[in-house]
Amino acid sequence: MTSPVRLSQRALWAAGQPISDLMARALADPTLISLAAGFVDQQSLPVAATREALAGLCAEESAARAALQYGTTLGYRPLREAIVADLRARDADCPDIALDQVIITAGSNQLLHLVSDTLLNPGDIVLCAAPTYLVYLGTLSNLGVRSVGVAVDQDGVVPEALHETLQQCAARGELSRVKAIYLVPYFDNPCGVTMPLARRREVVEIAKRWSTVQQIHVIADEAYRDLRYEAADVASMLTVDEDGDTVIVTGTFSKSFSPGLRVGWGILPRALVEPVCSQKGNNDFGSPNFNQHLMQALLTRGLFAAHLERIRPVYREKRDALLRALETHFGALDDVQWRVPAGGLYVWLQLPPGISTGPSGGLFDAALQEGVLYVPGEFFYPNLGEPACENTLRLSFGVQALNQLDRGVAALARALHDSAVHDYSAMTSDQSN
Ligand SMILES: Cc1ncc(COP(=O)(O)O)c(C=O)c1O
Repeated sequence: MTSPVRLSQRALWAAGQPISDLMARALADPTLISLAAGFVDQQSLPVAATREALAGLCAEESAARAALQYGTTLGYRPLREAIVADLRARDADCPDIALDQVIITAGSNQLLHLVSDTLLNPGDIVLCAAPTYLVYLGTLSNLGVRSVGVAVDQDGVVPEALHETLQQCAARGELSRVKAIYLVPYFDNPCGVTMPLARRREVVEIAKRWSTVQQIHVIADEAYRDLRYEAADVASMLTVDEDGDTVIVTGTFSKSFSPGLRVGWGILPRALVEPVCSQKGNNDFGSPNFNQHLMQALLTRGLFAAHLERIRPVYREKRDALLRALETHFGALDDVQWRVPAGGLYVWLQLPPGISTGPSGGLFDAALQEGVLYVPGEFFYPNLGEPACENTLRLSFGVQALNQLDRGVAALARALHDSAVHDYSAMTSDQSN
């Protein structure tokens, strides 16, 4: 007789993620044009640069052995030094960062998970941009944490809305449960907006002002900072935290170099260094050491910088192709709108009011029939606070070839027509190509 498997509460909280089903559908049909996954461009992945750095790393016996050994919980020191040096070079106002405030993780997702595990108890609250990075919403629900959405505009999280949400939490007697504010300040996933410096300062000031019961941290997920195609860079969220006690920054080489290497990092306020290290010590006592040495070799040999120079125009061209396709296939519809992202991998599309882009809304199945997959906007909204805009969706331009981007958008336009929820006759462009 087999006994029942009793799953943990966390496993139960983790179950039923809509995104897994979506990805399974994409994989089941190889002809589908997926504008859904946030993967990077396959053709420009840095094979030659990796080969060269790898050869260099393995050329010297003792260096190679050191890389093949376990590393430390905090991560490879020269790599952490390089990350701090890079931040200092970019941001004149970069605060003093001690090396032990920098921790290397297996992708920035691991850092997000470790920090959340360190700070949050079941029932605690994290205020999130609405919409926001859906994987992090999953991390929070996995921990039994409540994510509360805060409205965004063209500059990211709206300070007044943030303030108001905090007021509401305080009025309910729940300020002690609010532990963090999570946002993606550069080329946000999903909506592509970048938060200007003044707004960054305002958000951090609000977090400090409301940190009366306990510290409310701002988790600034800076995953896309390197994927900038135009406009001036904006200084990291770290630079507006003068006391250095509020902002946690996460970064990654996944998007700018290779997600297969999965090297990410975090910069932590001093008070969090030890508790986060303890979590990591119990978790894996150090992320894959070899990948960290390899990443360091790529940085010191200038191979990372050269790769970045090479891929920016590749993504810019893809972004432009997607925007052109949107103009061609949706441009005549006043009630279909999108923003031009200055970087990153995503375009956020708003369809006419009344259209639901979700799996049961008609459009989603029609799009699959037409051969295109997107991510419904509702998946990016926290389940509390700012309500989901059901007529939104995310398109990713990282993976598909230029001509496929146009085909995918044309298919989406046909799906909108097929789902018979919109007067398609208003469109003037030829949908047949
Ligand atoms: C906003 C954001 N943060 C973090 C990540 C995770 O990247 P990684 O764990 O590969 O570093 C992603 C990946 O899509 C992302 O979009």
